[in-house]
Amino acid sequence: MRPCTSSDTSPSDTPPPRTSPSCTPPADAPPAGSRAPTDVLVVGGGIIGLVTAWRAAQRGLSVAVVDPAPGGGAAQVAAGMLAAVTELHHGEQTLLALNLASARRYPAFAAELAEASGCGPGGLGYRACGTLAVALDSDDRAHLRELHALQRRSGLESEWLSGRECRRLEPMLAPGVRGGLRVDGDHQVDPRRLAAALLVACERAGVALHRAWAERLSVVRDRARGVVLADGTELHAGQTVLAAGSLSGRLAGVPDDVLPPVRPVKGQVLRLSVPKPYAPFLSRTVRAVVRGSHVYLVPRENGELVVGATSEELGWDTTVTAGGVYELLRDAHELVPGITELPLTETRAGLRPGSPDNAPLLGPTRLPGLQLATGHYRNGVLLTPLTGEVMAHSLVTGELPDEALAFTPRRFAEPSLVPPTQSFTEQPA
Ligand code: GLY
Repeated sequence: MRPCTSSDTSPSDTPPPRTSPSCTPPADAPPAGSRAPTDVLVVGGGIIGLVTAWRAAQRGLSVAVVDPAPGGGAAQVAAGMLAAVTELHHGEQTLLALNLASARRYPAFAAELAEASGCGPGGLGYRACGTLAVALDSDDRAHLRELHALQRRSGLESEWLSGRECRRLEPMLAPGVRGGLRVDGDHQVDPRRLAAALLVACERAGVALHRAWAERLSVVRDRARGVVLADGTELHAGQTVLAAGSLSGRLAGVPDDVLPPVRPVKGQVLRLSVPKPYAPFLSRTVRAVVRGSHVYLVPRENGELVVGATSEELGWDTTVTAGGVYELLRDAHELVPGITELPLTETRAGLRPGSPDNAPLLGPTRLPGLQLATGHYRNGVLLTPLTGEVMAHSLVTGELPDEALAFTPRRFAEPSLVPPTQSFTEQPA
């Protein structure tokens, strides 16, 4: 039996089985083998679970997190682009509003977390460096022109540049670049440092960490009461938050009608390093769609260059494949030929928690005592600041704040709950 956490890195492509949902309700009083109840128990110690725990603890709630390796999960693989504008898609205006709201919070969030964790200014690797999305051929250029039009209709700032203007900004770009979009508002953060800082901030805020697998949800008299660990220990809580990334739909004991419809979407990512004589190799994130596949290069101040990412629907498989590495290097090389000179330091695959509408599931479910913070898909790092605030509000008040109402987990069963698009509506071109 495989328990459910956010930090699964098994190469197996077999979905972790759910245990029987027919869990025996324990008695009201915590029996032997159980711990004192907390206000909140977060299942999953990835960045979404940790930010939820940290913000809830700051609001005066007693909080515990259960995860065998807190601070792990998809953040150990993610590149950390904060790409609200360059990753805009048709039909995702409501998600765009949430993404922009979180992006706006990043500078203050990064400063507060750096202080709370003691990692110091700049310790999260937050860089307001901007992004350049470029086109390599006429198909790519047509795609980018469409994106530009959508951005303008959505009131977003981006500037069309000729190929020459792109290369003036980033001299390492291939001479064949046909044009590009300069987006000065899409920045980056280092997700590994973000996860490490959140873990320290949680500990300093008094969050209890249970380094174990959650085996199943306890449901007593139609209310979630916490979880049972693999060793039989019971963790009781007033509210349980399922924040287990791509595995959030696998926790045994969760009734089928509240089980989050998340699925794993594999992303293979490479890490290279830029030796001092080559620096600065790139000054901002550079990305493109090459033959229909997204490729991005994210340069960090410490010389790391992250190249991502594949997008594969292969269940819980996290194998790094020759084909995945080949395609990423081939596409990155077309964009920035000098990349083949750099040392390749790491290859890794992670699992994005995909949802049916590519948007997160936040807040109360129809099962009293169970809330969700999952399904962030391509935007987990970007949405971390906002998710922490939204979840803390929801845990304290029992309701989502207005800006997150559209992301209720109940929207799939009850579409009438979703308010009309907020902030603005896309107009036809
Ligand atoms: N947001 C980048 C990715 O999911 O690959």
